[in-house]
Amino acid sequence: MKTLCNCPRWLKITGLVVLLLTVVLGIVGYNRFMRDYGATVFDNPDDRFKYGSMGAENDAGIPYWIFYVLPRVFPDKLPKPGVGYASFGVVWEEGQELPVGFSKRRIGFDRVANTCASCHVSSYRTQADETPTLVVAGPNHTLDLEAFFRFLVDCAKDPRFNADTLMAEIELASKLDFIDRMAYRYLIIPITKKRLTEREGQFQWLYRHDFPEWGRGRDDAMNLTKYFMIRWPMDDSFGPTDMPSVWNLKKYQPEKGHRMNFAGDSHDPYSVVIDSALGLMGAEPKDKDDFLGHIDWLVDYLKNKPAPKYPFPIDAARAAHGKSVFDANCAACHASARTGTIVPLAEIGTDRGRINTWGKQAAIEANKVVSDMGIQRKGLVEAPLTGYVAQFLDGIWLRAPYLHNGSVPSLADMLAPPAQRPQVFWRGYDVYDQTKVGFVVQGPEAERAGTPLDTRLRGNGNGGHSFGTSLPAGDKTDLLEYLKTL
Ligand code: HEC
Ligand code: HEC
Repeated sequence: MKTLCNCPRWLKITGLVVLLLTVVLGIVGYNRFMRDYGATVFDNPDDRFKYGSMGAENDAGIPYWIFYVLPRVFPDKLPKPGVGYASFGVVWEEGQELPVGFSKRRIGFDRVANTCASCHVSSYRTQADETPTLVVAGPNHTLDLEAFFRFLVDCAKDPRFNADTLMAEIELASKLDFIDRMAYRYLIIPITKKRLTEREGQFQWLYRHDFPEWGRGRDDAMNLTKYFMIRWPMDDSFGPTDMPSVWNLKKYQPEKGHRMNFAGDSHDPYSVVIDSALGLMGAEPKDKDDFLGHIDWLVDYLKNKPAPKYPFPIDAARAAHGKSVFDANCAACHASARTGTIVPLAEIGTDRGRINTWGKQAAIEANKVVSDMGIQRKGLVEAPLTGYVAQFLDGIWLRAPYLHNGSVPSLADMLAPPAQRPQVFWRGYDVYDQTKVGFVVQGPEAERAGTPLDTRLRGNGNGGHSFGTSLPAGDKTDLLEYLKTL
């Protein structure tokens, strides 16, 4: 009979034991570190949008228990201590384990990642003592994303981010078994510390003192794409943009020349959704079919999600007259063949910061990154940026503050000459102002909840778009009434 080798019996037994151990360790290791247990299934489409995983936990996820204890270990690094992640303006629904816009998935161990909803779900209140009403696919005007990004890096850099301190806190809250405890202590915590610290380089421009803060409800969208997706060296541009609404995407018809994103840098909903999702994934999707399946779902969902109706009373007679004011002064851009197309900067006159953050070469390179992944889409527009898209105004009542950089608090302020628009105001307070049509942006509550936006600072200019500003007061009031109906 043939044997495996002519070595002594004890060696064969040892070899077998080693082999067995390796197999067992391999299986345990695979199950506890790598095995993807799949996404939680949400039957309700709104819940899927808010909490559904698309696999971003793989490369961009944070281990659940680290995410859980960070605000407890580092309250001093929160914008406001004592309220945990709520201090970043994330929206939290009663009875939910995670804030809106966060997904959880077990890939070996539980991990947390972001979804589209962290930036694309809105909230408002009629008065201060009320639970916020959430509007899915609305702009999240309360989220202080820059502060959240910095928080994660700052925690990771702190000496208190170590296994002893974090494990002590984790063990207070969890019932981890022996393997998970060992894994957290010796692998997950050190690796997470390293990966978060590494982000600091890519986030360098968030620490520049000569750039104003994004503040609540804004990010620097195209610079994020530039530095994370195509990994360009950092330049001197700064182009803060408001979170947009993403409902009713079927209004965009590429065949009519419509463009998407504020400066018209993308072709169609499918492309924008893919690029946004890749931004969240942080790397090439592990399972492309699964990823593209989620994209198809998102596109269909957002195309057909209607804009929300104005929830307060509307004076129908005034609105009817307001429509004629609108037809005479606004419709040429906002309800015509021009809507959804780019208006040259010289004609619109708003802040040019956002335009300077992106261009033809960036688009070419970003398109290449995506096609190299084997993903087909029409993609980003490979041409210089020349102006801003004349917006569709559906659900405009809930899209305050206004303009691409969110520099004008209310629709009433949009109708005031630029020099009379508020110079400094507070963004991120969600109590609604039915008179000015926007959110409350001044006063102690707004200042406590919000972050200031100073329109004199770079990227924050509130000039331009002076259409309708010299109308008689009565016409303005009627126009405002009509805008509520859109
Ligand atoms: C970190 C915040 C953030 C996340 C997460 C995010 N977006 Fe966005 N999204 C933005 C901002 C900001 C813009 C505006 C970019 C610009 O033009 O400057 C935008 C633009 C868009 C637009 C274009 C809207 C229009 O009318 O032109 C769509 C559609 C969109 N996002 C969908 C998504 C989807 C789908 C996801 C998830 C896969 C997602 N976004 C994730 C912040 C975010
Ligand atoms: C010449 C074309 C043009 C005319 C006329 C025009 N707009 Fe605009 N509008 C634009 C463009 C372009 C933007 C985007 C500018 C930016 O974000 O920098 C815009 C943005 C807006 C926004 C902000 C949208 C958002 O999501 O923040 C509102 C509100 C608005 N316009 C209302 C009006 C009203 C009301 C009138 C009539 C009194 C009017 N516009 C007339 C081109 C026009």
